[in-house]
Amino acid sequence: MKIMVVGGGGREHAIIRKLKENPQAETIFALPGNGGIAADAQCVPIAATDIEGIVRFAVETGIDYAVVAPDDPLVLGAVNRLEAEGIPCFGPRSEAAIIEGSKIFAKNLMKKYSIPTAACEVFDDLDAALAFVETAPLPAVIKADGLALGKGVIIAETRDEARDALRGMMLDRRFGKSGERVVIEEFLTGPEVSVLSFTDGETVVPMVSSMDHKRAGEGDTGPNTGGMGTIAPNPFYTPEIAERCMREIFLPTIRAMKAEGRTFKGCLYFGLMLTPQGPKVIEYNCRFGDPETQVVLPLLESDLLTVMQAVTRGELASVPVRFAGGACCCVVMASAGYPTAYEKGFAITIPEAVRPFVYVAGAALRDGQLVTSGGRVLGVTGLGDDLRAAVRAAYERTAQISFENAVYRRDIGQRALRMEG
Ligand code: AMP
Ligand code: GLY
Repeated sequence: MKIMVVGGGGREHAIIRKLKENPQAETIFALPGNGGIAADAQCVPIAATDIEGIVRFAVETGIDYAVVAPDDPLVLGAVNRLEAEGIPCFGPRSEAAIIEGSKIFAKNLMKKYSIPTAACEVFDDLDAALAFVETAPLPAVIKADGLALGKGVIIAETRDEARDALRGMMLDRRFGKSGERVVIEEFLTGPEVSVLSFTDGETVVPMVSSMDHKRAGEGDTGPNTGGMGTIAPNPFYTPEIAERCMREIFLPTIRAMKAEGRTFKGCLYFGLMLTPQGPKVIEYNCRFGDPETQVVLPLLESDLLTVMQAVTRGELASVPVRFAGGACCCVVMASAGYPTAYEKGFAITIPEAVRPFVYVAGAALRDGQLVTSGGRVLGVTGLGDDLRAAVRAAYERTAQISFENAVYRRDIGQRALRMEG
């Protein structure tokens, strides 16, 4: 089988490694992949947002199965176009990917189908939004409507910060067109849980839960990033809460999307907050999380390709999806200065024995040498019988890897370990 994976980060590296476990996966192409993925797949220099280029490559190459991993091509309709060419895909069509593509769509869906989430108001007019935050409770959560690479969320502690955020989004277009409309949300508190799920639009199978560490600095300080590390499972997510989420959030969401004529097939990511009033949805993503995938897929015991194909065929109920009992930790090694400004082009040294546990995100090959090319450079993982062992293994490996300007948080998993006691 010829398989194509669209994307080029650590998440895609983890997906590709798992797909390769199936002997049917003879050739895997990554579009565009990266310098590290090149060790596991054939990288093709076609950008993940170049929908026409992706479709042309798939048709000319005779791709048998496509996995579209990042949000932009999903929202742009890559799956719609590939399916129109007869190529089976893993990933939602654009009409379902809108659940991530428009925060306003997601909020309206939750309101209509009584799915628990933060109360919110929507604005497309700056003056009306400014007037609202004069009396809104603080902190106020201000979100740009469209995709903003996970950075379009500002938690304003003061009215000045709220005004600045609104002007930045709606006037200066700090997040581009996605700031045309904004959502102002009630501030929720409680531990956050990421639950990725497989769904074929009828059946929803949650994967092992995980916890992201979104802030750049230790102790959850500093700016929000794409994610500085993850652990799975998330100890705050008890079997009782899982059962409640299935009843109040997961199934209602899948049914709502179907009822709206937007059947969701692929990986639906539930970003949840466990508030004193119960679990609430913070965000939906129409795809695997990054770096959640790097800790969830290593724990998947079932064959990923088989599960994905069952999703595509609408037969998810008939395949087993099993996870191992242990834990996994991923430490992101980043370039100093991320998420703002950083230098790149530094040589990366990874000992041979550590490589199978490293997912490469922002690195390129220069004369055969792996060099840094992005903010988040590597995800270094450890598996263990329990969380403590997984964290230890991940950090032992991280310490063996070096590149100039490397930074990483030393406290990935600590909050979860404190919770476990
Ligand atoms: P999002 O991009 O929607 O996941 O938001 C990024 C981060 O902002 C989340 O992971 C939360 O930590 C925080 N956040 C988003 N919405 C809220 C909210 N309503 N209350 C508190 N924190 C929030
Ligand atoms: N790690 C959060 C995300 O993938 O959006």
